Amino acid sequence: MAILELKEVTKTYNDFSVVKGFNFSVNQGELRCLIGPNGAGKTTSLDLITGRQKLTSGTVHFDGKNISKLLEKDIAVLGVGRKFQVPAVFKELTVRENFEVALTDKIGPFQNMNPFTKNRSRKHFNEIVELAGLGNRLNDTAGFLSHGETQWLEIGMVLMQKPRLLLMDEPTAGMTEQETEKTSEIFKELKGDHTLVVVEHDMSFVRSIADVISVMHQGSMLAEGTLSEIEQHPMVKEVYLGTEGIH
Ligand SMILES: Nc1ncnc2c1ncn2[C@@H]1O[C@H](COP(=O)(O)OP(=O)(O)OP(=O)(O)O)[C@@H](O)[C@H]1O
Ligand SMILES: [Mg+2]
Repeated sequence: MAILELKEVTKTYNDFSVVKGFNFSVNQGELRCLIGPNGAGKTTSLDLITGRQKLTSGTVHFDGKNISKLLEKDIAVLGVGRKFQVPAVFKELTVRENFEVALTDKIGPFQNMNPFTKNRSRKHFNEIVELAGLGNRLNDTAGFLSHGETQWLEIGMVLMQKPRLLLMDEPTAGMTEQETEKTSEIFKELKGDHTLVVVEHDMSFVRSIADVISVMHQGSMLAEGTLSEIEQHPMVKEVYLGTEGIH
């Protein structure tokens, strides 16, 4: 069953549609990669799903509910988590404190007093710390983490909120080869229990994690399929021709 469904989604700026009649559907438990050349409209599409930007036309359904007109904060409460292209962690806080901030419900300042409330158990906390590989870094200041560790911290922070759908924009950008490999292990661990949409340019990373790949071009869906189907698709080949190529 589709947990996320975009129908004919369009976003127009000054008479130019950067997302145009975009149809995109993701099933529960799936790890979907969304690729496409620079400017294809990938980040804008994530903005439209999370309510950061408003649709010009079309609809977005999450878990059967039309969320097209909801506010960003209300969409987040429904269980849509987002990791941005640039990490957003609190550099002056420790890794543990960053995780605890993420655990906290956003309903009031006193929730901060005890982060382990409601369904947010210590077990959940420990599982995510382990998944992010930051168990021996908990008391270190986040500002001293490597680029890869900072990305994993932010992924962990999003996971602390138990999102039902996790959207990630270029999670491996700037990572070393080893860091990228570890990130693919994290994602493979997450799929099944979580639904993930991963926007990526790094095709070797996409190759290592993807089941189904969606290719976006000029604001619309160009092709969808397995990696080998995508690689052999004539339109995809044409779009990537003369750029870095799909390899
Ligand atoms: N606020 C805005 N006003 C006008 N045009 C915009 C705005 N935001 C994005 N665009 C344009 O929309 C198009 C799609 O941008 P978007 O960032 O969604 O692409 P992308 O697929 O994420 O690209 P990249 O792979 O480079 O991150 C681009 O041509 C961009 O210049
Ligand atoms: Mg982008």
